Amino acid sequence: MLEIKNAVAVITGGASGIGLVTARYWLQQGGKVVIGDISEEALDRAVQTLDGDVVSVVVDVTREADASRLAKQAIASFGRIDLVAPFAGIIMDGLLVATDRETGKVKGKMSLEKFQRVVDINLTGVFLTVRECLEQMINHDCRGLICLVSSTGSLGTAGQINYSSTKAAMSVMPKVITAELFRRGLADRIRCAAIAPGYVRTPILENMNQKALEKILGDVPIGRLIEPEEVASLACEIFRNEALTGDVYYIHGGLRLGSRG
Ligand SMILES: NC(=O)c1ccc[n+]([C@@H]2O[C@H](COP(=O)([O-])OP(=O)(O)OC[C@H]3O[C@@H](n4cnc5c(N)ncnc54)[C@H](O)[C@@H]3O)[C@@H](O)[C@H]2O)c1
Repeated sequence: MLEIKNAVAVITGGASGIGLVTARYWLQQGGKVVIGDISEEALDRAVQTLDGDVVSVVVDVTREADASRLAKQAIASFGRIDLVAPFAGIIMDGLLVATDRETGKVKGKMSLEKFQRVVDINLTGVFLTVRECLEQMINHDCRGLICLVSSTGSLGTAGQINYSSTKAAMSVMPKVITAELFRRGLADRIRCAAIAPGYVRTPILENMNQKALEKILGDVPIGRLIEPEEVASLACEIFRNEALTGDVYYIHGGLRLGSRG
């Protein structure tokens, strides 16, 4: 079992929601954190609420140079990286093609920009953060976990072709990364897994159709949103328990998408 005390977490999307709560949880266990986010003001506000060894870095995860700077800053500040949590993510929901209820003809399409932006942040951004942090972890003989964040949306949610596609990618990456590290004799010290939450009480949900969300919540056996602390606790448990690697761990309160099953 690994210990969080004195361990270093690099968390993107660290100014809000699951990233911020994970940073707080990690600090409470005696760890150190580097939080990256795109908004300097949001980062400053987040740091005010955190107690302990915290470094904040303004990064746009879609930019290669920013991802590199983030990973190098973690080494410069704390000398190691134990947890990589590339949690920065967005939703921009819409239908692939929207038809007119009266004419039945197509009246709108998801724009390329709307599709591409979600891919850039949720997929390319994770690729860059993981690649840069992994390089530092290997070169500095670190031991720990790359913890991706997928979603129940990875199973396919109507209105989220962009988001669901990126989250499906997050479900396959742990297998790819674990297999590559295994081939190089590194998988015993650097692990990769994904957590896949259902609907978590964070600001990201404000961008969802609230009627659709209410309907979905009717299908959640525990009858409520997941708390971000519950997700942070799972990520930290996967970090501690070195038998957990290469797979996706769901946390959704029993949600069965589209059915009370
Ligand atoms: N909340 C949920 O219900 C839920 C469910 C499953 C998965 N997730 C995933 O969890 C992760 C965190 O989501 P959250 O709910 O905490 O959302 P959130 O909106 O509270 O936090 C996301 C953070 O990412 C940052 N961000 C956005 N674009 C960025 C960029 N280009 N560079 C750097 N930072 C950027 C935002 O500024 C924000 O602080 C996301 O990947 C999301 O898809 C959330």
